[in-house]
Amino acid sequence: MDAFVARSLDEIRFWSRIMKEHSFFLGLGFRAEDTQLITEANQFHTIFEDIERRSHEFNIDTDPHTIKEFNTEVQNAATHIWAFKRMVLGLILQCKLPGQTNFPLLVDHISREANYFRNRLEELNSGKLEPLPDAIIDENVFFLKIMADHAKFIGHLLDPSERKLVEQAREFSNDFDTLMFQAIDLSHMRPQSQTVPLLSQFVDENRVSVKSLRDFKKTARDLIDECRIKSIIHPLLADHVFREAERFLFILDMFDQSLSGVKVNKKEIMH
Ligand SMILES: [Fe+2]
Ligand SMILES: [Fe+2]
Repeated sequence: MDAFVARSLDEIRFWSRIMKEHSFFLGLGFRAEDTQLITEANQFHTIFEDIERRSHEFNIDTDPHTIKEFNTEVQNAATHIWAFKRMVLGLILQCKLPGQTNFPLLVDHISREANYFRNRLEELNSGKLEPLPDAIIDENVFFLKIMADHAKFIGHLLDPSERKLVEQAREFSNDFDTLMFQAIDLSHMRPQSQTVPLLSQFVDENRVSVKSLRDFKKTARDLIDECRIKSIIHPLLADHVFREAERFLFILDMFDQSLSGVKVNKKEIMH
């Protein structure tokens, strides 16, 4: 049962900070006259800031029932911010907020992250965690698209005169689009594609690319912090996408360890 508490707190600590920052980015992109939307974004900021603070007050010894209730409450907040983001996406796509500055793909992207968060909590509370081979494919399909989107946002928010960096961002975008399609191909070939050698090659290959994207984001973040490059990227957004790449790497490392465990067990069975 502590695994449940540890896993829940880990997800909530990471994603509540992310949701809080999304509220901030949404608020920045609205026009000055959109006071209602700005107020709503600020309310979500307060809600997730409070959730983040409370998640740090709990620890591994907290009663699992308390955590279960907390998960339900957070899942509810994640559902509400998801609905808000989708509503904003609708307004943007109907050209009802001309001049606002968040890309539709960014608003869709942050709604997918809210939905992911909501699903994680739902899975934890119902005790229905996906079997490893399914988790490996689904997490990769989700995160590879997230990484491909990040590369596109970076490429479009850098100043056009930063030609070399824009080119690098474009290369990452192409690389991750390709990896994402490969992941979808593997997903279509389920369950026959879920062999240990195929899954472990899949995880290894993705890990190499995520590491290099993570390093690129870290460099970009540092350059932005030091005011060494021209862009309209908020320093917090640069750090935000870096942390999401770190999260994906952490998940890939977990899969890698689980798969080598499977390999070891298999060898033992063969003996
Ligand atoms: Fe995000
Ligand atoms: Fe993201």
